[in-house]
Amino acid sequence: METSGYVAGIDIGTTKICTIIGRYAGAEPLEVLGVGLVPSSGLKSGIVVDRQDAIKCIRQSVEKAQQMANLPIQAAYIGISGDHTRSANVVGRVHTGPDAEVTVGDVEQVKQSAIDSVPLPVDREIVHTIVRDFSIDGTSGVSRPIGMTGNRLEVLLHVVTGMGTVIANVRQCCEAAGVEVQAHVLEPIATARAVLTDAERDLGVLIIDIGGGTTDIGVFVENSICHTAAVPVAGNHISRDIAQVLRVSADDAEALKCRFGAALSDLVPEDDLVHVTKADGFGSDRVPRRLIAEIMQARFTEIFETVKSELARAPIPKAGGVVLSGGGCQAPGTAKLASGVFDDLPVRTSEPRNLTGLAHLVATPVYATGVGLAMTAADEGAGTTAKPPPATTPTDTVCSWARELWQKVLQYKPW
Ligand SMILES: Nc1ncnc2c1ncn2[C@@H]1O[C@H](COP(=O)(O)OP(=O)(O)OP(=O)(O)O)[C@@H](O)[C@H]1O
Ligand SMILES: [Mg+2]
Repeated sequence: METSGYVAGIDIGTTKICTIIGRYAGAEPLEVLGVGLVPSSGLKSGIVVDRQDAIKCIRQSVEKAQQMANLPIQAAYIGISGDHTRSANVVGRVHTGPDAEVTVGDVEQVKQSAIDSVPLPVDREIVHTIVRDFSIDGTSGVSRPIGMTGNRLEVLLHVVTGMGTVIANVRQCCEAAGVEVQAHVLEPIATARAVLTDAERDLGVLIIDIGGGTTDIGVFVENSICHTAAVPVAGNHISRDIAQVLRVSADDAEALKCRFGAALSDLVPEDDLVHVTKADGFGSDRVPRRLIAEIMQARFTEIFETVKSELARAPIPKAGGVVLSGGGCQAPGTAKLASGVFDDLPVRTSEPRNLTGLAHLVATPVYATGVGLAMTAADEGAGTTAKPPPATTPTDTVCSWARELWQKVLQYKPW
C-alpha cells in the first residue's frame, strides 16, 4: 500500500463516461489533476450493449483526462451498477480456542465462513465483502479483533454480488481501451465516499444517486453500509415521458427537461409557455412549462416511492436523512419532493467535497461517482503507475523538424 501517488477512477455511466485522475498524499485531500467527461455510447444501465462504441468512449474519456493532467495512466478503479447487482448482510463464526488470541488466520477464516453462506450461482461473482462489525464472545463493536483474547469470533459482512459476464464485459472494454482494472466498486459506495460527511455516516443516512439509466441506493448505519440496491428507473425515463407526452424528439425532450424542468410543478409559474418543435420536424407549439414539471414530478415521485418500497426490509436511517446525487437530482425541487415521500426526513442535494486542485471542475453531482472511485483508490493506496511516454518514431522527428522550419519561415522578417 503506497501512502502517496497517482490514482484514477472511471465512472462508466449510461449517459456519460467520466475519468478522474488525482494525486494523493497521506491524509491530505485528493488533488484533482485531470477530468475527462464524454457522452456515453454502447452502454445501458451499467451493461455493455455495443463493445466497439463502449471501448471508443472509454478511450476518449481517459485521453481527455490524461491530457489535462499531463499524466498517462495505466490502471483505474471502475464503477459498476445496474440491477444485476445484489447485496446481503451475512454472519460468520469461528471458535478461536479456549481463551486464545485472535490471529490474522482467524479473521480470514471467519470472513470466509460468512462468504460461504452467500448463495452464489455459477453466473454470479462477489464484488465486495465489507466488514460491518466483529464481535468476540458476543460483545459487538470490535473494530480490530487481532490480538484480543476470546473463544468465539463473529463477523457481520455486507456482501455485494454481480453477474460475472456483465462485470467481465466492462473489464474487457477497459482493457481494450488501454486501462487495467485495479478494482470494481459498486457505484453508490463510490458516490457515498465523495459526498457524505463522517457525521452523516455515523448518524445513519440514505444516499440516492439518480443517474440516466438507474437510480442507485446505499444505506449507511453507524458508519457502515448495510444495504445497497439499484432501481431501473432514472433520468432517461423522465426525458422519454416528456418526449411521448409532448410528441417531441428525445434530444428536444432532454433539453426541455434540463432547461425548463422542475421536480415540483408548484415551482413553475402557471402562465410560462415554452416553444417546442414537434417530432415530425414541421409543426411547432407553445406548451405550458408547468406541464413539463408535472410530467417530471409524476416520474420523480415514482422513483422515490420505488426506492422507499425497496427499503421496506432495510431500516431507513432517520437522523442523517437523505442525500441525493447523480445528474437527475439537479432538477429544482428534487430535495423537497423527496422529503415529502420520505415522511419529512431532511433531504439535501450533494456534490463531491474535500478536494483540492481542479476541484471547481467537478463541483456538481454528475462527477460524484468518478471522484468517489479515485478517492477509494487513494484510500486503498492503489496508485496507478504512469505509462512511459509514447516512443518518438523517425517520422515524428522528421515532422517536428519540418514544423519548426515552417514556423521559422513564417516568422522570418527580412526588413
Ligand atoms: N438540470 C437537470 N434536470 C434534470 N435532469 C438532469 C439535469 N441535468 C442532468 N440531468 C439528468 O441526469 C441524468 C444523467 O445523470 P448522471 O450523469 O449521473 O448519469 P449516468 O451516471 O450517466 O447514468 P447511470 O448512473 O444511470 O449509469 C440524465 O438523465 C440527465 O438528463
Ligand atoms: Mg451514474
